Amino acid sequence: MIRSWLFVPADSERKLAKGGDSGADALILDLEDSVAASRRPVARGMVVDYLAAHPAMRRPQLWVRINPLDGEGLTDAAAVVRAAPHGLVVPKVNGPDELLRLSHWLDALEARDGLPAGGIKLFAVATETAAAVLRLSEYARVAVPRLAALTWGAEDLPAALGASTNQDPSGGYALTYRYARSACLLAAVAADVQPIDTLEVDFRDDAALRAACADGRRQGFTGKIAIHPAQVAAINEGFRPTAEEVGHAQRIVAAFAAAPGIGTVGLDGKMIDMPHLRQAQRVLAADAAFQD
Ligand code: COA
Ligand code: MG
Repeated sequence: MIRSWLFVPADSERKLAKGGDSGADALILDLEDSVAASRRPVARGMVVDYLAAHPAMRRPQLWVRINPLDGEGLTDAAAVVRAAPHGLVVPKVNGPDELLRLSHWLDALEARDGLPAGGIKLFAVATETAAAVLRLSEYARVAVPRLAALTWGAEDLPAALGASTNQDPSGGYALTYRYARSACLLAAVAADVQPIDTLEVDFRDDAALRAACADGRRQGFTGKIAIHPAQVAAINEGFRPTAEEVGHAQRIVAAFAAAPGIGTVGLDGKMIDMPHLRQAQRVLAADAAFQD
């Protein structure tokens, strides 16, 4: 489980250095929107050097955001796979078939570089075009074996729609973006991969970030994108179960353990059945994953 995914522009020596010390569960070394097109060749070399200097770390995991598959995505993948990143973050994905195509390319690149087949995972930014949002339900039936996570965004979609804002008059996200968020959450859960909530652009507003983390986790998201190291701590704390939640989950598991073969039990005067047990097990698994 990866709670905090910190984007680091891959052509910045200073940010690469800072990212490693940020406490993020994963770094996303970015070759796409945060790097000028003219800097991409340099940035690819810097990604390879950074990965070579930090082999197979457990935390932070090292991911690379490539360019769109109809742009320089394959060039990026061909350049960085040899350095064995944990996975690739794929922007502007229109549906799972595009990820399957990339997955076949990765089969070839892994074979070329003597890497374990299927080792490189995928994390798709799944709501950046209108077609992508409309096709989110396909993740429920098209399995992409490398897929580890899906996220949504409210920055590229308005550009794709010709919208001048992603907000409604009250200042919250307009319905289109709330719909994209919900559909992304449902798609990720249906595909049995991590649903990751989008970034907060205002990286100085810690209170707003903490509120957004709390809301994301209540809805079912298991992690969140960061764009600045100052956002990492709030995300790590926000997506870790609280002591109270862990205690409650332990009591649910214990209640079922004490009643073998029984599908529903009473706890504190409330009915508890299988969905509660599954949720309790998820809470305990998340807690165990973040013990260090
Ligand atoms: N990763 C690693 N280090 C970062 C960082 C990041 N995403 N963002 C900032 N830092 C570093 C800065 O380099 C600086 O360290 P330094 O003084 O040693 O150079 C320190 O943290 C403080 O940075 P600050 O001055 O507060 O921010 P900034 O004005 O330099 O940068 C952004 C602001 C938004 C440009 C920067 O946070 C950034 O590049 N974010 C990522 C953008 C991105 O990847 N977007 C694509 C995904 S949507
Ligand atoms: Mg973008």
